[in-house]
Amino acid sequence: MTITSVHPVHRTVLSWYADNARDLPWRRPGTSPWAVLVSEIMLQQTPVVRVEPAWREWLERWPTPGDLAGARPADVLRAWDRLGYPRRALRLQDCARAIVAQHGGVVPGTEEELLALPGIGPYTAAAVAAFAHGRRAVVLDTNVRRVLGRALEGRALPAPSLGRAERERAATYLPADDAESVRWNVGVMELGALVCTARSPRCPACPLRERCAWRAAGSPADEHASRRRTQAWHGTDRQARGRIMAHLRARPDDGWCLGEDLLAAAADGAAPAALPDRDQPARALASLVQDGLVVAGDGARAGAYRLP
Ligand code: ADE
Repeated sequence: MTITSVHPVHRTVLSWYADNARDLPWRRPGTSPWAVLVSEIMLQQTPVVRVEPAWREWLERWPTPGDLAGARPADVLRAWDRLGYPRRALRLQDCARAIVAQHGGVVPGTEEELLALPGIGPYTAAAVAAFAHGRRAVVLDTNVRRVLGRALEGRALPAPSLGRAERERAATYLPADDAESVRWNVGVMELGALVCTARSPRCPACPLRERCAWRAAGSPADEHASRRRTQAWHGTDRQARGRIMAHLRARPDDGWCLGEDLLAAAADGAAPAALPDRDQPARALASLVQDGLVVAGDGARAGAYRLP
């Protein structure tokens, strides 16, 4: 691989990536833009090891946007299984339908067109433009933000929300050449995933250790620590929602399920009085209905529920 960039930071990251990149299936040449888009949606909030098998099965079943567009939502939710945040699955199907309706079933190539699709935000639009279409785009996920924040600005962790100055700084550092910009994006991302991690960075193994502003400053602590939300799971409404979804997914057909069984599933068998928050099961079920992940019956079906 030739590295043409004159910028030493670019050269350093690109050659580190050439030697250290993981062989992830969505990075292989010939991966379709749709398969790349699916990987990017799955990788938001779900670790690589759990995404890999789910991604393979998903693409065997729905290899194109048109295939997913016509699937039954209940099947889509079952296939999403334990990846978490199941609204992403329905948004991905909405996205597939829009690609069919507006782009003849072909994943569009510009960030602007991608951003106009349901379920695609600035990160995903940039990532798909770069990794699926080889275009120059400012790809800023949490890993990239952390690496650039440390190396260039000396911050332990990026600010809780992405600001304009940070985006402009990242844009300034993007290599001018298309192919090189793609490798820079994925290389910085990989450095954040493998070396410059949030909790225990392996600075001695880092190719930027001699130039890192954070390290030069003595690795100061996170200045935003008090403002960060930690994503608890145990005892949360998310956990209760997850249990209801698991109960519905496990049913062999799309049959109706009694609300009381779902509330018991949400409480994991505990009696309501024994729960720290006795309204949680009902609240979790109502929020799933509100999100379109569960359908509530009416008329003779009142009090029963099923997957959409
Ligand atoms: N390669 C391309 N995009 C990626 C992502 N979001 N996570 C891990 N590897 C990737």
